[in-house]
Order: sequence, then C-alpha cells, then structure tokens
Amino acid sequence: MGSVTSPISDRRATVALFSRLRTAQGQADPFPLYAELRSRGDVSPAPWGGFLVTGFGACDQVLRSGTWLEPDTGWRERQGERTRWSAPSSREISRTLPALNPPEHTRVRRAAGTFDRGTIEQIGSRVSRVVDGLLDSLMDQLHTGEADFAALVSEELPIATIGDWLGLPSADWSRLRELTHDQVFTQELLPSASQLARSDVAMAELRAYFLDLVAERRTRLGDDPVSRWIRTWDELEPDQDRADEAVYFLALFVLLAALETTSTLLSTMALLLIEDPDRWSLLAEQPDLVPAFVEESLRYDPPTHVISRVAAQDCVLEGVEVRADEMVHLMVGAAHQDPARYRAPDRFDLSRGPGHLAFSGGIHYCLGAPLARLEAQTLLSRMITHLPRLTLVRRPSWAPRVAFRRLLNLDVALA
Ligand code: HEM
Repeated sequence: MGSVTSPISDRRATVALFSRLRTAQGQADPFPLYAELRSRGDVSPAPWGGFLVTGFGACDQVLRSGTWLEPDTGWRERQGERTRWSAPSSREISRTLPALNPPEHTRVRRAAGTFDRGTIEQIGSRVSRVVDGLLDSLMDQLHTGEADFAALVSEELPIATIGDWLGLPSADWSRLRELTHDQVFTQELLPSASQLARSDVAMAELRAYFLDLVAERRTRLGDDPVSRWIRTWDELEPDQDRADEAVYFLALFVLLAALETTSTLLSTMALLLIEDPDRWSLLAEQPDLVPAFVEESLRYDPPTHVISRVAAQDCVLEGVEVRADEMVHLMVGAAHQDPARYRAPDRFDLSRGPGHLAFSGGIHYCLGAPLARLEAQTLLSRMITHLPRLTLVRRPSWAPRVAFRRLLNLDVALA
C-alpha cells in the first residue's frame, strides 16, 4: 500500500474535468463529470494536492470520525503566506464555528444553542406569512408574463427569515445578501485571485457591520438571539471585547450559512417540481409527501457539493494512504449518486428512506437544518395548494463554481 500516484495523463484528465466542472455549462449538469471522476476510484488524487472522495461510505466515515479535522487557523498558517489560505477572508472565516476543532468547537457550538421545536414553531408562522406574500408577488408578475422564481421567491425567503430572526433592519437585507454572494469564494474549491480579492472586500464590510450590530445591541439587550449570545458570552468570557468578537463570529456565520444554501435548495426543489408535471400532480394528490420531496431534493442535487477536511494524523482511507495535514475534498454531490449507496441514484425517487450528507454529518452537522427544512416544506406546501401549474420558460443557468451551487435564474410562466 502507498500514496496513490496517478499517471500524468490521469492528472491532466482531472485538471480538464475540473475546468469543465467550474463553468456555467459544467454546473448545468455536473453529474456526468462526477461519474467520470468516480471511475478513478472512491478516493483519487487531486491534481493540486490532497484527494477527491466520491464514495458515499468514505465521505460518511470522514465526517463522523475524529481522525479528520476542519482546516482551522493553525492548519491555514502552516500552508504558508503565499497561499489562498492566508487571504484575510480565509483567516476570518477560519475563526467561525465550522472551521473550529474540539475543544474550541464544542464550547462555541454549545454557546450557539439550537433551533428547538418552540423556536421553529415561532419562526414558522412568520415564514408562512412571508411565503404567502412572495407567492402573491410572483402571481402578480405571472399575470403580465414570465417571472424569475429564483429572484422573486428563493432569494427573498431566506433573508426575510434569518434577517428577522437576528433582528437586522430590512433596509440592510439586500446589501447583506450581495455581500454573502461575494464572500463565498473564499470557501470555494478553487477560487481565482480576483475572486479571493472580492471575498476580502466583502468580508471586511461584513466584519464592520456585525461588530457595529453587536455594540449597538449591547446598549439595548432584548430577547433576540444576538442579545442571548451576548449574555451567554459575558458569562464565558471575562474580556468584553473578546466576548463581542465571539458573538460577531456567530452572527456573521449564521447569516452566511443561511442564505445561499437555502436559496439554492428552494430553487432546485421548485425546478424539480415545475419541470415534471407528474411530480406536481403526485404532490398535489398526496401533500404528506412534501417532507420526502424536500429530502430527495437535498439528496438529488444538494446546495453544497464539496465539504473539506484534513487528516489529523497519517491514516488510510479506502486503501489510500493519506498523510497528516493532507486535505480530502468530500464530493458530496457525487457521493449522493453513488450506486453502492442508492439504487438507481439518477432517479428522483420519493420512496427512498432518509439519509444524505447535504447537511454534513458528525459534530459539524448543520445547525440550521430545521430552519432550512421549515422554509422548504412551507414553500412547497403553499406552491401545490395556492399556485396554478407553472411551466419553465427556459433552462436556468448556474453560477460557474464547484462547491456552492447557485441558480442564477428560474424563469417560469403560467402553464
Ligand atoms: C439547505 C440549506 C442548508 C444547507 C444545505 C446547509 C449545509 C451545511 C453544511 C454542509 C454544513 C457543514 C459544513 C462542514 O461540515 O464543514 C453546515 C454547517 C452549518 N450550518 Fe448549514 N446549511 C443550510 C442552512 C443553514 C441555515 C438556515 C443555518 C442557520 C440558521 C445554518 C447554519 C449552519 C451552522 C451554524 C453550521 C456550522 C455547524 C458546525 O460547524 O458545528 N445552515 N451547513
């Protein structure tokens, strides 16, 4: 056994494959490219170093095992000054919850709290009201011609939900959403220098915004989550500046985590519903299938296609030797098409049991999963009961990226 060395031709083929994957065309249908990648094995070398993991079992194992860590601040520093990991936006994101490792992660995650049933019920009535308003606006526009479901509904619901929950003024929402679209590149698989520069600028503005927010909230503590985090951190951290910074990182990451991912889920789900009239009929006849439809959308084409980890020590993954500090890219979008895990994986099938990696797994399992599910289920239920049948005007287009899927438009008309 030894590290996998791939012949130069394999490396070239993988480089070419990722060049295609990161274009708008590649994102319109990445699955044939994933199949090509899988043909090189469940774990194959990445041409830029580290490994690409396409097998569901191996991805699941990495997420749940303590042998694998997040690329935290220390890891990023070890990569050197002239790498993407030293960009200011990368350093900043490395201090947020999903980039921490135990014991720091355990402490910060506990302080973040959870979306318990009571909170979800409370947010639920607002989500229903917002969905009704957005679908009314969509219908108004559809009566005069076509409408972009992504812009009018999918982009609006997550910011209206999380913005209201965090108590952010609605006048700020559209700027915050723009900034999250720009900052995401620092979390992408292969960001270019200009994309990293955009992330750096966006991150600096987000930092200033949220530090101001925390300072302002301190002057009038209430019953909102930011006030609750301030109270919690005041007990954990005697230095007030450090307590405020901890609250800032939490509020920042909750906003970043809640927007694009949920918008992508809503658009993907709407596309799957609208493009196949049989699916719409089935759901209209059996609305109790709504939760299964949301889960299968998350399996079929998850919002996050890549999650990365680094090896805590030398180890062996599916027969491949990985050295300490080497990175593995869990190709979740590909793992969800693994025939060893799912029967006929390319079929959208509502009868599958639960189980996917769209919300990750192990200690970093998505904190906002109940909220994302609430938004998706509410929107889908309202669509099938309140909307007439819709039809696609043209195929949507996707942003040219790899890890974070994003539909740029979803143009629909009355059927
Ligand atoms: C469909 C929507 C969503 C998807 C697909 C998604 C996906 C993910 C994934 C894959 C991770 C783990 C990353 C890793 O393992 O390194 C994660 C973590 C996280 N998500 Fe989500 N997310 C969604 C919505 C949300 C929402 C609405 C919120 C907040 C309200 C949220 C808050 C978080 C937080 C705080 C973490 C970090 C957890 C930790 O590291 O302990 N997410 N999410």
